Amino acid sequence: MSTRVYVPGDAAAVAVGADEVASALGAEAAARQLPIEIVRNGSRGAFELEPLVEVETASGRVGYGRVSPADAPGLVDANWLAGGPHPKRVGRPEALPFLARQTRLTFARCGVTDPQSFEDYRRNGGLKGLERALALGPAGIVEAVVESGLRGRGGAGFPAGIKWRTAAAAPGDPKYVVCNADEGDSGTFADRMLMEGDPFLLIEGMAIAAVAIGASQGFVYIRSEYPHAIRAMQRAIVTARAEGLVGPKLAGSTFAFELEVRVGAGAYVCGEETALLESLEGRRGQVRAKPPLPALKGLFGKPTVVNNVLTLAAVPFILAEGAGAYRDHGVGRSRGTMPIQLAGNIKNGGLFETAFGVTLGELVEDIGGGTLTARPIKAVQVGGPLGAYFPPSLFDTPFDYEAFADRDGLIGHGGVVVFDDTVDMARQARFAMEFCGFESCGKCTPCRVGSVRGVEVMDRIIAGENVEANLALIEDLCHTLKLGSLCALGGFTPYPVMSALTHFPADFRAGMMPAAE
Ligand SMILES: Cc1cc2nc3c(=O)[nH]c(=O)nc-3n(C[C@H](O)[C@H](O)[C@H](O)COP(=O)(O)O)c2cc1C
Ligand code: SF4
Repeated sequence: MSTRVYVPGDAAAVAVGADEVASALGAEAAARQLPIEIVRNGSRGAFELEPLVEVETASGRVGYGRVSPADAPGLVDANWLAGGPHPKRVGRPEALPFLARQTRLTFARCGVTDPQSFEDYRRNGGLKGLERALALGPAGIVEAVVESGLRGRGGAGFPAGIKWRTAAAAPGDPKYVVCNADEGDSGTFADRMLMEGDPFLLIEGMAIAAVAIGASQGFVYIRSEYPHAIRAMQRAIVTARAEGLVGPKLAGSTFAFELEVRVGAGAYVCGEETALLESLEGRRGQVRAKPPLPALKGLFGKPTVVNNVLTLAAVPFILAEGAGAYRDHGVGRSRGTMPIQLAGNIKNGGLFETAFGVTLGELVEDIGGGTLTARPIKAVQVGGPLGAYFPPSLFDTPFDYEAFADRDGLIGHGGVVVFDDTVDMARQARFAMEFCGFESCGKCTPCRVGSVRGVEVMDRIIAGENVEANLALIEDLCHTLKLGSLCALGGFTPYPVMSALTHFPADFRAGMMPAAE
């Protein structure tokens, strides 16, 4: 009998040589006539250890971290197929502190199962949520999602159940479910990891959403920079169709559900839901004015639910285990778990799914292990390029939508990007304006023109020209962007700019000439 060996096929693992490791291990095993079956699983999200190879031994899975192709002969010599000792052996993956401290509700299977095996999916708890959903019927599903307290994980944190209720009640036929997998935020990768590591979960979540609102067609809108995720979803949809999870009789029911992947050409603003719908309709990705809400008039003018990958992927657990089992995690109005992505200059980067309420300091210092450069942390940007910078004095902020908003920040899609003390925050503020200008869809003046003026003003501040007057100007400009922009790209650019100015004022005055004696 062959031994199962797991080598992640996840893009993050492939980027550090997982494909070469898989080939080398396969060749070495063949040369020594050792029967092995290599499974290309997803990543567990402990990126520091990738490529993390796991062997299924009689006493459970044993991991070997940071494996390189050159390790193949030595691993065989060390009797790795029985979990033998080797300098790269890290023991039971689930017992690694980075993984043992997590609460994995959404990412429970990611890195564990064969992502393209429908059988593996079913054997490991898949489809239970859909079965329960079909038994409850549309109204029951909507109520379960409302009761769970699930909020949108794409950025705005809008209650998913309320959006579904609106779309379910809206007149119009057909209705659509659109999965937003544009994932443009800096330091984020959870959507990608999930699509590559557990694609059937997203399909199941979308199928449940479709039944809930009466949609017969779904689209997964994925950014073109995610070729592995695109392939993983396309392959999984073919399997799901063959298994009856997608098609004219969804899982043997009376509901029909078709599903397709659509690839975006790569613009940050196409993650904004109305620009995404424009792009899906074949037009340039430009933001639409709201109202009407997409739930009432969305894709092709029909009722449409647009949800992030993580929102939809949380739904099968809620249906399978009950709304209470999800709601029991978290704090205040932030219920359930959040797959937080630790990135930037951080020692233990990766995906950390945990209940809301963990503090920012615990995340970056304790779990993340501080900076990779071993220098002090100066700032942490949370929530993508439109999120605020937090200094260490705010590390007691709990990861919770309201707690972050109270401190002029946002959680966004859960991206946490760490900077050490060499960062110049005035340059980061300039970058925020430059990013806004580069990505602006051009529909409204404060964003289109204001961002360009913002870069010019920041250049003058950095050069030390009339600093106080220019700081007053940048504050004024931020005020205009915040109140006058049509969407959050222009509206939230003031967050990184103003937080940098508020918490790191010295960096903005570094270019000033010292006063003459
Ligand atoms: C400029 C901009 C970019 C956005 N990018 C994304 C994105 O990449 N993925 C995403 O899910 N939501 C993104 N959003 C939020 C979406 O507009 C929308 O709120 C979300 O898809 C709704 O799904 P949710 O309720 O499940 O979060 C973006 C918003 C803005 C203003
Ligand atoms: S704020 Fe910027 S991205 Fe948003 S609609 Fe206006 S111009 Fe377009």
